[in-house]
Amino acid sequence: MSATQLSGDVRGRLDAVIHGEASPGVPELVKAVLIDSMQNGALDVPAALKVPRADTYARRLLHRDPSGQYTMVVMTWGPGQKTALHDHAGIWCVECVVDGNMEVTQFDLVSEQAGAFRFEQRNRIIAGRGTAGCLIPPFEYHTLANASPTPSVTLHVYGGEMDHCHVFEPAADGSYRRTRKDLRYHE
Ligand SMILES: [Fe+2]
Repeated sequence: MSATQLSGDVRGRLDAVIHGEASPGVPELVKAVLIDSMQNGALDVPAALKVPRADTYARRLLHRDPSGQYTMVVMTWGPGQKTALHDHAGIWCVECVVDGNMEVTQFDLVSEQAGAFRFEQRNRIIAGRGTAGCLIPPFEYHTLANASPTPSVTLHVYGGEMDHCHVFEPAADGSYRRTRKDLRYHE
Protein backbone atom coordinates (compact mmCIF):
# COMPACT_ATOMS: atom_id res chain seq x y z
CA MET A 1 0.00 0.00 0.00
CA SER A 2 1.40 3.42 -0.91
CA ALA A 3 1.85 6.32 1.50
CA THR A 4 -0.98 8.16 -0.25
CA GLN A 5 -3.37 5.26 0.30
CA LEU A 6 -2.32 4.99 3.93
CA SER A 7 -2.99 8.69 4.48
CA GLY A 8 -6.31 8.21 2.71
CA ASP A 9 -7.20 5.54 5.27
CA VAL A 10 -6.54 7.98 8.12
CA ARG A 11 -8.64 10.59 6.30
CA GLY A 12 -11.47 8.08 5.94
CA ARG A 13 -11.39 7.40 9.67
CA LEU A 14 -11.35 11.13 10.44
CA ASP A 15 -14.24 11.70 8.01
CA ALA A 16 -16.19 9.04 9.89
CA VAL A 17 -15.77 10.64 13.32
CA ILE A 18 -16.02 14.31 12.28
CA HIS A 19 -18.80 14.31 9.70
CA GLY A 20 -22.38 14.20 10.81
CA GLU A 21 -23.78 15.58 14.01
CA ALA A 22 -21.62 18.06 15.86
CA SER A 23 -20.64 16.47 19.13
CA PRO A 24 -18.47 17.72 22.00
CA GLY A 25 -16.80 14.30 21.97
CA VAL A 26 -15.36 14.68 18.46
CA PRO A 27 -11.88 15.93 19.48
CA GLU A 28 -11.33 12.91 21.76
CA LEU A 29 -12.38 10.59 18.92
CA VAL A 30 -9.99 12.37 16.55
CA LYS A 31 -7.23 12.02 19.14
CA ALA A 32 -7.88 8.28 19.39
CA VAL A 33 -7.70 7.91 15.59
CA LEU A 34 -4.37 9.77 15.45
CA ILE A 35 -2.78 7.79 18.28
CA ASP A 36 -3.96 4.49 16.80
CA SER A 37 -2.78 5.51 13.33
CA MET A 38 0.66 6.38 14.68
CA GLN A 39 0.86 3.04 16.47
CA ASN A 40 -0.04 0.99 13.40
CA GLY A 41 2.13 3.00 11.02
CA ALA A 42 -0.73 4.46 8.99
CA LEU A 43 0.11 8.07 9.71
CA ASP A 44 2.75 8.63 7.08
CA VAL A 45 3.40 12.33 6.48
CA PRO A 46 4.96 13.03 3.05
CA ALA A 47 8.67 13.90 3.31
CA ALA A 48 8.16 17.17 1.41
CA LEU A 49 6.01 18.46 4.28
CA LYS A 50 8.70 17.68 6.86
CA VAL A 51 11.38 20.03 5.55
CA PRO A 52 12.16 22.72 8.15
CA ARG A 53 12.43 26.40 7.28
CA ALA A 54 15.19 28.66 8.53
CA ASP A 55 12.95 31.68 9.25
CA THR A 56 10.11 30.11 11.24
CA TYR A 57 8.40 26.82 11.92
CA ALA A 58 6.77 25.54 8.74
CA ARG A 59 3.00 25.23 8.48
CA ARG A 60 1.75 23.21 5.51
CA LEU A 61 -1.69 21.97 4.51
CA LEU A 62 -2.01 18.18 4.28
CA HIS A 63 -5.76 17.90 3.72
CA ARG A 64 -8.76 20.18 3.53
CA ASP A 65 -12.07 18.41 4.07
CA PRO A 66 -14.31 19.23 1.07
CA SER A 67 -17.25 19.96 3.39
CA GLY A 68 -15.08 22.37 5.40
CA GLN A 69 -15.47 20.51 8.69
CA TYR A 70 -11.78 19.96 9.29
CA THR A 71 -8.25 20.55 8.02
CA MET A 72 -5.04 18.61 8.58
CA VAL A 73 -1.93 20.76 8.91
CA VAL A 74 1.68 19.59 9.26
CA MET A 75 4.12 21.75 11.19
CA THR A 76 7.85 21.24 11.10
CA TRP A 77 9.99 22.74 13.83
CA GLY A 78 13.68 23.41 13.47
CA PRO A 79 15.92 23.39 16.56
CA GLY A 80 14.87 26.20 18.92
CA GLN A 81 11.71 27.12 16.99
CA LYS A 82 8.58 27.84 19.02
CA THR A 83 5.30 29.73 19.09
CA ALA A 84 4.27 32.75 21.10
CA LEU A 85 1.46 32.25 23.62
CA HIS A 86 -1.62 31.95 21.42
CA ASP A 87 -5.22 30.83 21.13
CA HIS A 88 -7.00 28.91 18.39
CA ALA A 89 -9.74 31.46 17.63
CA GLY A 90 -12.35 29.21 19.20
CA ILE A 91 -11.71 26.20 16.94
CA TRP A 92 -11.02 22.80 18.49
CA CYS A 93 -7.71 21.22 17.60
CA VAL A 94 -5.95 17.91 18.12
CA GLU A 95 -2.17 17.95 17.94
CA CYS A 96 -0.06 14.84 17.47
CA VAL A 97 3.73 14.50 17.54
CA VAL A 98 4.88 12.69 14.40
CA ASP A 99 8.66 13.06 14.83
CA GLY A 100 10.86 14.30 17.66
CA ASN A 101 9.70 15.88 20.92
CA MET A 102 7.66 18.97 21.66
CA GLU A 103 7.37 21.06 24.80
CA VAL A 104 3.71 21.96 25.32
CA THR A 105 2.81 24.53 27.96
CA GLN A 106 -0.81 25.29 28.78
CA PHE A 107 -2.08 28.54 30.24
CA ASP A 108 -5.35 29.58 31.85
CA LEU A 109 -6.76 33.01 31.14
CA VAL A 110 -7.54 34.44 34.57
CA SER A 111 -8.62 38.00 33.72
CA GLU A 112 -8.89 40.61 31.04
CA GLN A 113 -9.12 44.29 31.78
CA ALA A 114 -8.81 47.13 29.28
CA GLY A 115 -6.86 44.96 26.87
CA ALA A 116 -4.55 43.58 29.55
CA PHE A 117 -4.77 39.77 29.66
CA ARG A 118 -3.48 37.85 32.64
CA PHE A 119 -2.58 34.18 32.44
CA GLU A 120 -1.48 31.50 34.84
CA GLN A 121 0.81 28.81 33.56
CA ARG A 122 -0.56 25.29 33.99
CA ASN A 123 1.19 22.09 33.09
CA ARG A 124 4.25 21.86 30.89
CA ILE A 125 4.91 18.54 29.27
CA ILE A 126 7.39 17.04 26.88
CA ALA A 127 5.29 15.22 24.28
CA GLY A 128 7.08 12.47 22.39
CA ARG A 129 6.40 10.74 19.10
CA GLY A 130 2.92 9.22 18.92
CA THR A 131 1.38 11.31 21.69
CA ALA A 132 -1.57 13.63 21.05
CA GLY A 133 -3.52 16.24 22.95
CA CYS A 134 -6.81 18.08 22.50
CA LEU A 135 -7.38 21.81 22.72
CA ILE A 136 -11.04 22.53 23.25
CA PRO A 137 -12.23 26.14 23.69
CA PRO A 138 -12.21 27.90 26.09
CA PHE A 139 -9.16 25.91 27.25
CA GLU A 140 -7.07 26.78 24.25
CA TYR A 141 -4.12 28.92 25.36
CA HIS A 142 -0.70 27.40 24.95
CA THR A 143 2.82 27.55 23.60
CA LEU A 144 4.59 24.90 21.55
CA ALA A 145 8.36 24.56 21.24
CA ASN A 146 10.64 22.03 19.63
CA ALA A 147 12.25 20.14 22.51
CA SER A 148 14.66 18.20 20.29
CA PRO A 149 18.07 19.29 18.93
CA THR A 150 16.86 18.09 15.51
CA PRO A 151 13.66 18.93 13.57
CA SER A 152 10.35 17.81 15.08
CA VAL A 153 7.11 17.34 13.17
CA THR A 154 3.53 17.70 14.42
CA LEU A 155 0.18 17.03 12.79
CA HIS A 156 -2.75 19.27 13.70
CA VAL A 157 -6.38 18.47 12.97
CA TYR A 158 -8.57 21.58 13.27
CA GLY A 159 -12.36 21.60 13.45
CA GLY A 160 -12.53 23.93 10.44
CA GLU A 161 -9.89 26.08 8.83
CA MET A 162 -7.88 28.23 11.19
CA ASP A 163 -7.09 31.29 9.07
CA HIS A 164 -6.17 33.42 12.06
CA CYS A 165 -5.50 33.21 15.75
CA HIS A 166 -4.47 35.63 18.49
CA VAL A 167 -1.02 35.89 19.95
CA PHE A 168 -0.30 37.31 23.37
CA GLU A 169 2.87 39.34 23.81
CA PRO A 170 4.18 39.93 27.32
CA ALA A 171 4.08 43.50 28.65
CA ALA A 172 6.32 44.99 31.33
CA ASP A 173 3.66 44.66 34.04
CA GLY A 174 3.34 40.89 33.67
CA SER A 175 0.13 41.04 31.64
CA TYR A 176 -0.15 40.23 27.94
CA ARG A 177 -1.43 42.25 24.98
CA ARG A 178 -3.47 40.45 22.35
CA THR A 179 -2.89 40.85 18.63
CA ARG A 180 -4.57 39.09 15.71
CA LYS A 181 -2.30 36.94 13.57
CA ASP A 182 -3.38 35.94 10.07
CA LEU A 183 -2.23 32.44 9.22
CA ARG A 184 -1.01 31.16 5.88
CA TYR A 185 0.36 27.88 4.65
CA HIS A 186 3.88 27.50 3.42
CA GLU A 187 4.45 25.79 0.11
FE1 LIG B 1 -1.64 26.01 18.95
